[in-house]
Amino acid sequence: MNTGFVLKGNICHTPAPDDLEVLERGVVVCENGVCRGAFDAVPERYAHLEVIDCGDRLILPGLADLHTHAPQYAFCGTGMDYELMDWLLQIAFPEETRYADAAYAEKAYGIFAQKLKEGATTRAVIFGTMHADATLTLMDLMERSGLVSLVGKVNMDRNAPPELTEPGAEQAAADTRRFIEACRKRGYQRTGPIVTPRFVPSCTDALMEKLGAIRREYDLPVQSHLSENPDEVAFVREIAPEAAFYGDAYDRFGLFGRDSRTVMAHCVYSTPEEVQRMLDNGVWVAHCPSSNMNIASGIAPVRRYMEKGLRMGLGTDVSGGSSLSMFRAVTDCIQVSKMYWRYVDRDARPLTFPEALYLATKGGGSFFGSAGSFEDGFAFDAVVLDDSAEPRARALTVAERLERAFYRELDRNGITMKFVRGERII
Ligand code: GUN
Ligand code: FE
Repeated sequence: MNTGFVLKGNICHTPAPDDLEVLERGVVVCENGVCRGAFDAVPERYAHLEVIDCGDRLILPGLADLHTHAPQYAFCGTGMDYELMDWLLQIAFPEETRYADAAYAEKAYGIFAQKLKEGATTRAVIFGTMHADATLTLMDLMERSGLVSLVGKVNMDRNAPPELTEPGAEQAAADTRRFIEACRKRGYQRTGPIVTPRFVPSCTDALMEKLGAIRREYDLPVQSHLSENPDEVAFVREIAPEAAFYGDAYDRFGLFGRDSRTVMAHCVYSTPEEVQRMLDNGVWVAHCPSSNMNIASGIAPVRRYMEKGLRMGLGTDVSGGSSLSMFRAVTDCIQVSKMYWRYVDRDARPLTFPEALYLATKGGGSFFGSAGSFEDGFAFDAVVLDDSAEPRARALTVAERLERAFYRELDRNGITMKFVRGERII
């Protein structure tokens, strides 16, 4: 185990949404995988540590992708001319059936894990498919990537083609148990299971009930989808009439926060009651702007959620989302908030760059504990970015260079080092 080191360069992080802290030629200290803070110069007590000098490069916390679908990366950037329910039937479900094939899963998940590793993401919350074995393959690959991730075997026992519908709640829950037990046996260091009902239309009450029991028994986190699309929301109202609102259909089965870490993707159409329940239960929102544009779901009122103090991060939602880039998620988030302000609610100020960066780092990182900031006690997740290939006619401030790096997606080819829990993986 490495004991410690110092990274020197242009340090940028957001300890608070409105606070982009920049330390030009500053340092961040890592001890046993934990960040000991960002400083102008190496404090005396750390003078014995090795200094890795990154020169004029930018150093930022690793980004957390709070919602993405590994099997869907295979069709990323295609099949966008649908809305959610048709898109699932025409595009997403046919691809996911392929993961019954172990060789295909190995190949496709290998590409996904490699691409995720190459970007600025250091932590991710990931959907697999309903196939337990393929999802374990995905977890093996994620573990090897060095990233920290939570991965779910998807549960779905209704409203999908027969080959992608689990034969009853009993079988689905048994497979989920087998999946969780297998994860334990494999002794992963940075990869864990997360209970994953796909969404209410995919899960019978019988299955939801069993998943609630599994969650309690194993004390696991939960991920799902919530209030994403108008037709979906109307369908849920029809098939779950006993639920007071969409999120209540999870809460009735102990799958909506309270005693567990729970993240719900989208929340574009959450009612005031639903938002209040999320606040009361401490549910995280995974805001997925790229997906919400591509499959025409709408725009989540992120400024309102921030004002209310909802826990929130950003998700790529590949492949409703068309990019695994969390840099892109940050700029998409800002851009859709501007359209929301312009066209929907003139009192909902657009998000600023520091605010969106906060969501992508410390906001989403909080789902994993203390991650996404260079404050003392946070996990040492860091990305070193070389932006020197970008032409510069005049000097830019470090803050300007950082913002430009995001808008110009320099996470594609500008990353020169990446650390997760203090371990260098690039
Ligand atoms: N709702 C249920 N499944 C999915 C999915 O795969 N992608 C998105 N965007 N929404 C969903
Ligand atoms: Fe999704």
